[in-house]
Amino acid sequence: MSVTVSTLQKLKDEHKKFATITAYDATFAHLFDEAGISAILIGDSLGMTMQGRESTLGVTIDDMAYHTACVKRGTRNALILADMPFMTYHDTASACENAARLMRAGANVVKLEGGAFLCSTIETLVNNGVPVCGHLGLTPQSVNVFGGYKVQGRGDDAGKHLLDDCLAVQNAGASMLVLECVPRDLAAHITEQLRIPVIGIGAGNQTDGQILVMQDALGLTVGHTPKFAFNFLKETGNVIDAVKLYISKVESGEYPTAEQSFA
Ligand code: KIV
Repeated sequence: MSVTVSTLQKLKDEHKKFATITAYDATFAHLFDEAGISAILIGDSLGMTMQGRESTLGVTIDDMAYHTACVKRGTRNALILADMPFMTYHDTASACENAARLMRAGANVVKLEGGAFLCSTIETLVNNGVPVCGHLGLTPQSVNVFGGYKVQGRGDDAGKHLLDDCLAVQNAGASMLVLECVPRDLAAHITEQLRIPVIGIGAGNQTDGQILVMQDALGLTVGHTPKFAFNFLKETGNVIDAVKLYISKVESGEYPTAEQSFA
């Protein structure tokens, strides 16, 4: 049965964990869907994984629409999330126009990086029929503001500010939130405070869901390997079983371990 935003909300309400993953083409989308993944994200991480760039900043809405359409063709059941790339939602009119491109390409939900400053944009998108996934913590489109890919939310003030941003995004109408590279105790607290599903990456095992860039789950990482990466393919030998193992370890809370999380 097809996964919807309501399916993920029900899993949160029932305290059941779920796994999600990125994909950028029809073949991997098909394999992940066959394995039973809940959601597939066409991440703007494709700037690095597919295009060989150093950051996500060069990814365009044309790139995202193309890869979203490819993933859509390979997917039967998983919910399809697509990233709005850098500077395509800086004002509400651009956000609506660019979200419409991704929805027409096959996305069910669009993902936007940022906090309270995005509230009116999120409200407008939702009012126009576009479900939104927020993205907070380490937001890679702001790498130049952060001065690198650094853990976010450390310290009481930063933690409180992050929680406030998460609540603002939720209250503006977002259906779910990705929380990236945040200390595990803070991520657990934010997950408890939010009524919408929180999907962690580098945020410990207490979030409602997990997401991994597919290369980090299959031992295909080039260059820096994040602390939370794990090669599920090595243990299984084929992609479908690797993703089934990832799903079962997320559902049981075995992945990520404390060592794969930030303190
Ligand atoms: O672009 C991406 O792949 C992402 C994930 C890291 C969550 O945003």
